[in-house]
Amino acid sequence: SPGSQGALGTPRATPEQVHLSYPGEPGTMTVTWTTWVPTRSEVQFGLQLSGPLPLRTQGTSSLFVDGGILKRKFYIHRVTLRRLLPGVQYVYRCGSAQGWSRRFRFRTLKNGPHWSPHLAVFGDLGADNPKALPRLRRDIQQGMYNAVLHVGDFAYNMDEDNGRVGDKFMRLIEPVAASLPYMTCPGNHEERYNFSNYKARFSMPGNTEGLWYSWDLGPAHIISFSTEVYFFLHYGYHLVERQFRWLENDLQKANQNRAIRPWIITMGHRPMYCSNADLDDCTRHESKVRKGLFGRLYGLEDLFYRYGVDLQLWAHEHSYERLWPIYNYQVFNGSQAMPYTNPRAPVHIITGSAGCEERLTPFAIFPRPWSAVRVKEYGYTRLHILNGTHVHIQQVSDDQDGKIVDDIWMVRPLLNRTTYL
Ligand SMILES: *[C@@H]1O[C@H](CO)[C@@H](O)[C@H](O)[C@H]1NC(C)=O
Ligand SMILES: *[C@@H]1O[C@H](CO)[C@@H](O)[C@H](O)[C@H]1NC(C)=O
Ligand SMILES: *[C@@H]1O[C@H](CO)[C@@H](O)[C@H](O)[C@H]1NC(C)=O
Repeated sequence: SPGSQGALGTPRATPEQVHLSYPGEPGTMTVTWTTWVPTRSEVQFGLQLSGPLPLRTQGTSSLFVDGGILKRKFYIHRVTLRRLLPGVQYVYRCGSAQGWSRRFRFRTLKNGPHWSPHLAVFGDLGADNPKALPRLRRDIQQGMYNAVLHVGDFAYNMDEDNGRVGDKFMRLIEPVAASLPYMTCPGNHEERYNFSNYKARFSMPGNTEGLWYSWDLGPAHIISFSTEVYFFLHYGYHLVERQFRWLENDLQKANQNRAIRPWIITMGHRPMYCSNADLDDCTRHESKVRKGLFGRLYGLEDLFYRYGVDLQLWAHEHSYERLWPIYNYQVFNGSQAMPYTNPRAPVHIITGSAGCEERLTPFAIFPRPWSAVRVKEYGYTRLHILNGTHVHIQQVSDDQDGKIVDDIWMVRPLLNRTTYL
């Protein structure tokens, strides 16, 4: 049958760890996979569920050598499909004459700002104890989402056991990640060998190996960046400045386009604020992500406030926390009755409880005055960008069998969104 492996297929040439990402241009999708021997890189695709796949696109592969003592080698294949019809389901398989993947399905993103994307958002998902994954898989197979945002920390860790933990993790998420764009940012668990497993295995937009990039999705501009440049300075102090300049430039451009794409949403791994009972950066008054290096260089809170960022998505803490609109420890509710309608500062969501071997992170006993909701349960976040003024955020608990444990609407009028100043 067309979906099965050919007679010449060898396990080492058969694609595994298949996943998708959106390169940022309308009508495109990138397929990425791994083989253990060099092969050609081809995707065959079409619109029919069964029968032949009439379309084909070639791509490239690159050799990856893991930094561990075995120096394990594998080949990462990348093929970008172009001129796809918007909002349409495609069927595809990837590989070469030496071996094909099974068939997968995905739905292309729609073009333009006038549609309502649904996102699944979480961080800190491991190969062990991946609590949110079964539900995510079911929800995604039912077509609930257009894309995933994985806000850093994968596998624990992708480099472990000479990269085998990364292989295991990428196989584990394949049923999810081969069916919709799986968009990422780096977390602290990707640090080994200068983030090489992260940079090699994922294929994010832009030319920074996925460290920072942005893309448009319906009425939103989504910015992904690395909080890790602030912590692993031995890989290059210059990266802090480079990313900061890029962010400033990207925010400027996004603001010029705000009448068309009103929402600016950021994702980065380590939060500026959190009320967990550990010694993480976000528990310190002058967190590095918020205030920058030495409390004054390249801090992000001022930058995001100045450019009117609406929503900031974080992870790292293995829990869920929602903050009241906040700037510099001051709460800026829209109003007492409707804090998220016309908020006068960005809204922060920390969602790092998808499940990993480190389990959940406890909270400090007394919530801070800026903390609105805290949930120490496994789960993930649903983000529905309804239109240019309305966004719906929900937290799904796995400990409570899919119960919605947090539910808010954020509403911002179209005018005066370019800054909170
Ligand atoms: C680490 O990687 C970044 C970007 O991928 C690069 O600019 C930097 O020079 C690297 N640092 C070292 C020490 O190799
Ligand atoms: C913000 O709104 C929430 C919910 O109404 C309220 O509990 C909190 O006290 C408000 N904070 C400020 C500073 O107004
Ligand atoms: C967004 O949807 C809400 C709820 O249906 C509606 O009240 C609002 O007018 C819509 N905003 C825009 C810009 O269409």
